[in-house]
Amino acid sequence: MTSTEYDFVDITGVASSVAEAVRTRHSVRDFESKPVDEKILTELFSQALRAPSWKNSQPWKIHVVSGERKNRMARLLTERAKQAEPSPDTIWPSGFPSDAKRRMFDLGMKIYGVAGIERKDKEARDGFMLRNFEFFGAPTAVFITTEFELNFYIALDIGCLLNTVMLLARSYGLGSVPQAALSAFPETVRAELGLSESEKVVCGLSLGYPKADSDLNLFHTPREPVSDLVRFY
Ligand SMILES: Cc1cc2nc3c(=O)[nH]c(=O)nc-3n(C[C@H](O)[C@H](O)[C@H](O)COP(=O)(O)O)c2cc1C
Repeated sequence: MTSTEYDFVDITGVASSVAEAVRTRHSVRDFESKPVDEKILTELFSQALRAPSWKNSQPWKIHVVSGERKNRMARLLTERAKQAEPSPDTIWPSGFPSDAKRRMFDLGMKIYGVAGIERKDKEARDGFMLRNFEFFGAPTAVFITTEFELNFYIALDIGCLLNTVMLLARSYGLGSVPQAALSAFPETVRAELGLSESEKVVCGLSLGYPKADSDLNLFHTPREPVSDLVRFY
């Protein structure tokens, strides 16, 4: 498969096994406004806390924000993003190898393509980027913070947690998108959630029911073949 070929997968169903959740999960960037029942959220996050971590240190706090508070955070984060450059608590990666740059470029082209945005139209691209801060219309926003000293293994632990949340979401017919963007303005997040300076915002996630008819939700990003990335001995 070349990096520009995409599968189309309906993300609106309910996954009935882990394998199906892994196979069908992809990032959702267009959500229904329908709220997620509190009982479902509680169940999902209680199960997600089974995620593994370094010596079971469980370095995370999960902040699940819905309703008026979520709307307010969307407004504040969007305003902030229009005025200021990101100043995350974590260091965002840079200096990618050329293969990765190609995959990232392809992703951008695909997203802008389905969103009907011309590559040269910077204003429209910036506008789409801002939808990160509106949680792509999702009824629930999730922020993952840690009070642990930030390092590589804390990030791995939080990655395990995030993927557990995203796969579990599929078993409730929910979609999600992990978002580094939601760590761009940690001061705003701390102020709104009443967190102390010691709570570092590592990543965010939008969660909700995917819009069934949205092209943004249909495409399944490609993966390199096993022969390139996995070696058996
Ligand atoms: C740590 C992390 C941060 C991400 N940040 C963003 C983000 O800020 N905005 C966004 O739209 N997607 C974000 N993504 C989603 C990726 O673009 C997506 O996972 C990747 O392209 C693979 O596509 P898939 O999730 O549809 O399989 C992030 C993914 C990860 C794992």
